[in-house]
Amino acid sequence: MNGRADRFLPYGRHEVDEDDIAAVAAVLRGDWLTTGPTVEAFEAALAARTKAGFAVACASGTAGLHLAMMALGLGPGDRAIVPTITFLATANAVRYVGADVVFADVDPETGLMTPATLEAALGRAGSGRKAVLPVHFGGRPVDLPGVAAIAATAGIDVVEDAAHAIGTTYRRDNGPATPIGDCRYSRMAVFSFHPVKTIAMGEGGAITTNDATLHERLARFRSHGMNRDLAYDAEGVANPWYYEMPELGYHYRATDIHCALGLSQIGKLDRFVARRRQLVERYRRLLAPLAPIVRMPVTPADAGAAWHLCAVQIDFAAAGATRAQVMQQLKARGIGSQVHYIPVHRQPYYEARYGTLSLPGADAYYRHCLSLPLFPAMADADVERVVAALSEALGLR
Ligand SMILES: Cc1ncc(COP(=O)(O)O)c(C=O)c1O
Repeated sequence: MNGRADRFLPYGRHEVDEDDIAAVAAVLRGDWLTTGPTVEAFEAALAARTKAGFAVACASGTAGLHLAMMALGLGPGDRAIVPTITFLATANAVRYVGADVVFADVDPETGLMTPATLEAALGRAGSGRKAVLPVHFGGRPVDLPGVAAIAATAGIDVVEDAAHAIGTTYRRDNGPATPIGDCRYSRMAVFSFHPVKTIAMGEGGAITTNDATLHERLARFRSHGMNRDLAYDAEGVANPWYYEMPELGYHYRATDIHCALGLSQIGKLDRFVARRRQLVERYRRLLAPLAPIVRMPVTPADAGAAWHLCAVQIDFAAAGATRAQVMQQLKARGIGSQVHYIPVHRQPYYEARYGTLSLPGADAYYRHCLSLPLFPAMADADVERVVAALSEALGLR
């Protein structure tokens, strides 16, 4: 592939081809625009891909996290542990159900929650019912067996925020690689298919689970809390108009239009993940001479990463440049970059609620992080262009 030096490189971009467009157009010509057979086909494809028993498609990853919290029955007085390096949505979903967030620190190099940072957060969590939401940040897998072992000892539920992690695999010891979303170590896993993610639905998300009761609750809360299974009475007499709402739900349904795109994109997931891995490998090689100012910490678990982000660590102070200056210089050269993420515990809403917390791993991670362009349509030469521009912006050549 050839890179074009004049095109703007965003930090992430969807890849939609003519066959994706044809799949959406076919739905538009058909009988169903909202919840029809394509939603079911998408759910079946996702369950097969993640090796989960069930998948529930919904309006967004955020809606999926909210549904997961509702399905668990978490509410006021309960607590959920959330790594502070994540998007706002992970913590906000906990607040939507009236539960409280206990922020966990992260590894300062990878930005991931670890068994140790979970244990430390549990020590601050107090009594009452709890859950933990490990985030497979950037598409790198959290140590799920390690996190799940601590959660099991503490008797708390695990819900994976897998918004970045469709296509990611993980291992238990030296066992075979298995997909994130199989829920072997969790009650549920929640995905996002926002266009910067590895596959796109426009807006969209999904929850996977192996638990039939949770599946039923997720599906019900997704559609106003309505139960239509009561359309037959005890004698089997049909009351086809009948529905009941035992608990409050929302309108968080996905549409056939969105699921047509999602279904078409799932078919390309292996190609997208493989290309992302190639590009990250290239970044790793080309960035190596910029160490120790620029580092891309790579861990053994990263073998299974479906890199959603190429988030590098940069010692801006040692380079004598601020992050804003570096981002501006990259932008002037037609290169987008982004910061993932401002620690959520530092947001005014959460500081007002929980005070100022000291989470030094997250602060160190945040101080040094910068996400460089990464999307499957990038050419090898684009990586060279980004690394050259970054070296220059940091005064390293
Ligand atoms: C870690 C994480 N969780 C949840 C979400 C929410 O996903 P959505 O944008 O589909 O609502 C995002 C979106 O960026 C995310 O990055």
